[in-house]
Amino acid sequence: MTDYTAAIFDLDGVIADTARLHFAAWIQLASEEGFQLPPNADNRLKGVDRMASLAIVLEGAARRYTTDEQARLADRKNRLYQTLIHQLTPADLLPGAETLLNTLAAWGIPLALASASKNAKAVVEGLGIAGRFHTIADAALVRHPKPDPEIFLMAARGLGVTPARCIGVEDAAAGVTALKRAGMYALGVGDPIVLREADRVVPSLAALDPADYFTAPANRSN
Ligand code: BG6
Ligand code: MG
Repeated sequence: MTDYTAAIFDLDGVIADTARLHFAAWIQLASEEGFQLPPNADNRLKGVDRMASLAIVLEGAARRYTTDEQARLADRKNRLYQTLIHQLTPADLLPGAETLLNTLAAWGIPLALASASKNAKAVVEGLGIAGRFHTIADAALVRHPKPDPEIFLMAARGLGVTPARCIGVEDAAAGVTALKRAGMYALGVGDPIVLREADRVVPSLAALDPADYFTAPANRSN
């Protein structure tokens, strides 16, 4: 076992069952515009910020959109998404998330959120877990989106923990790449083929034993 100090979580698709809501909002936008998403959009859109996601979505479009039109499309997608997340409750936590967060909190492990989403705060409030995180890296302040390590480094700084002492948890290939570039342990949740750069991949947080990475207070020597 390697003993880590802190855990940094991605939100959409790791803790919150929202990856499908982002995807549904993009599908609706594309269908309103009369085109379909490009192949494999489901995986490609995970972890990618709003404007970069729009660029992927527009690969399926039959015409070019101006910069102004693109800004309006991104706003429309966001409004569709916000309608969907408005209805989030603790029942939308992904399997194992609540138990894991409770255990890590009871063990005194500092926890951070590093989400590319500008809606992250609204989502964790809807899920009833906002108080679990010592720091939330603010997507609005990040200049370089995942796969750049910036957001994970910002979260580690917020916790006051060096990157090498952090475990990061991600469901997106872009997020796993960002974690490795940040010098953190990358724990993938999902498909081992998509997340092949990760140090380890589990099917869901329910499959995770926190004792693999952290020491329970009762077992600490000091
Ligand atoms: C990421 C999601 O967490 O946030 C992406 O995985 C999403 O699918 C991105 O595009 C940006 O989210 P938002 O809410 O700022 O549009
Ligand atoms: Mg994600």
